[in-house]
Amino acid sequence: LLEEALNAFIFKYKGTYFLKDLTSPEFVDAIEHMEVRENDVFLVTYPKSGTVWTQQVLSLILNEGHRNGTENIDNLERAPWIEYNIRNYDYNSRPSPRLFSSHLPYYLMPKDLKFRMGKVIYVCRNPKDAMVSFYHFYKVFPKLNYSIDWETFVDLYMSGRVISGSWFDHVRGWYTHKEDFNILFITFEEMKKDLRAAVLKICKFLNVNLDEKAIDTVVEKATFKNMKHDPLANYTFFPRDILDQSKGDFLRKGTVGDWKNLLTVAQSEKIDQMFKENLGDLPVRFLWDI
Ligand code: A3P
Repeated sequence: LLEEALNAFIFKYKGTYFLKDLTSPEFVDAIEHMEVRENDVFLVTYPKSGTVWTQQVLSLILNEGHRNGTENIDNLERAPWIEYNIRNYDYNSRPSPRLFSSHLPYYLMPKDLKFRMGKVIYVCRNPKDAMVSFYHFYKVFPKLNYSIDWETFVDLYMSGRVISGSWFDHVRGWYTHKEDFNILFITFEEMKKDLRAAVLKICKFLNVNLDEKAIDTVVEKATFKNMKHDPLANYTFFPRDILDQSKGDFLRKGTVGDWKNLLTVAQSEKIDQMFKENLGDLPVRFLWDI
């Protein structure tokens, strides 16, 4: 039954998994030819790593903390997904600086990016918290009948049979190909530890000079508490038939270390081992608790 539900929900293409009905192989292939502008910004993440949070941060930074013009529009419009064009936007007619979001692996991104056109901000989160967040996220999908048990989910996650495939492949792919891109790596945990420092780091990478007051506004509007109650930032505007937040909040806890409430010792050790095997040779470090 689960297998059936999963097949109705995601499909595999070029080594990763996509949400059904929201995109297609043809659409994904076309992304490679998307024309990138010098001042485009692409926010890339593995799911549940702080994407929506960073959509908020980036759109505030690019609009100088005041959201001129973006004041009344939601995150989905401020930072549309390239592989899920849910609202059928015409990307080419969007004014610069354009901001896009994506969960794509590095090899499916627009080709121009590899010639160091545009900028990529890659946000990642430790794989245990991402897994727990992902599990809760699966429970708000009507297409899965809101029912998936933890053990089953762990199995799917560890074998990469979830939306966007394996956490390990995604993070490893982006890290090992970082030279091809104009890219900034940032972690969920560092944003959590010191959001202001993270905002300054992003501003520097984007060459945006904000005054102290504007920085304060960005930080203030991107706190968990404020975003949770901001209808334009908390994804409640997302179509109900795709994501049903009556079953659980998208902005759920927003903490580091929640994995300790759910992972067994064996599951945790298994991830430690996979982490070592897949990323042990790379300078990738996370905080597992704060
Ligand atoms: P939890 O489920 O652990 O609470 P994504 O946007 O990539 O799907 O990631 C969602 C995760 O980011 C959720 O984690 C969500 O609560 C968290 N998040 C969103 N906005 C946040 C914020 N302002 N501060 C901290 N965490 C935030």
